[in-house]
Amino acid sequence: NDRRELRILENLDELRTDLADYIAELSEAAVKERGVFAIALSGGSLIGLMGKLCEAPYNKTVDWAKWYIFWADERVVAKNHSDSNYKLAKDGILSKVPIVPSHVHSINDSVSAEEAADEYMFVIRQLVKTRMVSVSDISDCPKFDLILLGMGPDGHIASLFPNHAVLKETDEWVTFITDSPKPPPERITFTLPVINSASNVAIVVTGESKAEAVHLAIDNVEPNCPSLPARLVQPTKGKLVWFLDKPAASKLDDL
Ligand code: 6PG
Repeated sequence: NDRRELRILENLDELRTDLADYIAELSEAAVKERGVFAIALSGGSLIGLMGKLCEAPYNKTVDWAKWYIFWADERVVAKNHSDSNYKLAKDGILSKVPIVPSHVHSINDSVSAEEAADEYMFVIRQLVKTRMVSVSDISDCPKFDLILLGMGPDGHIASLFPNHAVLKETDEWVTFITDSPKPPPERITFTLPVINSASNVAIVVTGESKAEAVHLAIDNVEPNCPSLPARLVQPTKGKLVWFLDKPAASKLDDL
């Protein structure tokens, strides 16, 4: 499978550097090709692991003004709440680099989850029309330049949890759930068709507590875990890169 790459880094510092290099290279390539870079973030430890982007040389070399920023998932809480994925990214990255505020497409926190999901999908649709976000050539799905995901110990990515009905969603790009097993319960999330239409998807996973889920998501296991969300990340035409530290990779078959 040459559309999937495993990067197993010696330690967290090397992972941080490799991840920053990867994001900076994809940004440069997208800006060269399309004039803009459409990137979707997640919450969790990912944001801290992206921190090197705010340091030299990336803080100066990345063309921040060309970034259009989205979220692969968001918790339905106020934007200044400590659970907000927007707040996490703003405090950790966006406030430290010269992003254009109007390019930050965070999810509305003053309406219901359902309305916020609809509104977010509408915004993405407008940006697809103007090609700030590309479009897939096999469906009408948005084709983000990069979707960054973390993974929970249960194998969830974005707010797509094991065995949840939204794993089967094929029509909507964005949906909401009210029964997240990881609090808070209400969340808005990209669906699998959007994730799998991206040009690039990265799943960034560290720590021993996730080693079993990494094994189940990547190796040829029996039964092959059809409802493990991370295993369902299979970009149709794009490329998937797993960033793993040694503990997270410790249960992979080929090690
Ligand atoms: C969320 C996140 C989620 C996260 C994983 C992994 O809203 O909960 O976006 O998808 O990426 O739960 O989180 P950690 O890396 O903190 O374990």
